[in-house]
Amino acid sequence: MLSVAKILVALTLASASLETPTPHATNGTGDVFYYKPDSEAGACGWMNTTDQAVATVSNTTFNGFPGATPKNPNTNPICGRRIVITGNNVTINAFIVDYFEQDKNAGPNDVGVTKPEFMKMAPISAGIVRDAVWNITM
Ligand SMILES: *[C@@H]1O[C@H](CO)[C@@H](O)[C@H](O)[C@H]1NC(C)=O
Ligand SMILES: *[C@@H]1O[C@H](CO)[C@@H](O)[C@H](O)[C@H]1NC(C)=O
Ligand SMILES: *[C@@H]1O[C@H](CO)[C@@H](O)[C@H](O)[C@H]1NC(C)=O
Ligand SMILES: *[C@@H]1O[C@H](CO)[C@@H](O)[C@H](O)[C@H]1NC(C)=O
Repeated sequence: MLSVAKILVALTLASASLETPTPHATNGTGDVFYYKPDSEAGACGWMNTTDQAVATVSNTTFNGFPGATPKNPNTNPICGRRIVITGNNVTINAFIVDYFEQDKNAGPNDVGVTKPEFMKMAPISAGIVRDAVWNITM
């Protein structure tokens, strides 16, 4: 007979083999950079502008969000969620509309926000706000 622990392991392995991405933190600590939306639609399929309070998160945060739909980013439930960020002792709010591919300059817990929100924490010339704490509201 299988022990409960073995059954749990089997169930975990079975669900890991589905295409469900590994859940990632809906909160974290990272650097905030200044994000300028493209003139094309972002990953959520929306056209947003730099005067709106919008944010971009890493592909890890985006694709690891509970219920993420990596094959169609437009339907990811992270789209339009509010991210609350505290950096330089200032708390800002923005709505997630896009993701960036993490690389050596931007890590999985970094976040980009548009001008009006960034400027509440630091001048645009600062470029980055270090060690900000963020939380995506469900
Ligand atoms: C932060 O994310 C962790 C998972 O990494 C989770 O366990 C925890 O409940 C989250 N906390 C809040 C306040 O959302
Ligand atoms: C982002 O763009 C979409 C589509 O144009 C719009 O519905 C949404 O309100 C915009 N978000 C913000 C925070 O302005
Ligand atoms: C995120 O992007 C990086 C760099 O392209 C890639 O190595 C990684 O597998 C991606 N992760 C997810 C969850 O999309
Ligand atoms: C951050 O804000 C809190 C609450 O307004 C204040 O008590 C604290 O002194 C501030 N810290 C810094 C480093 O400015």
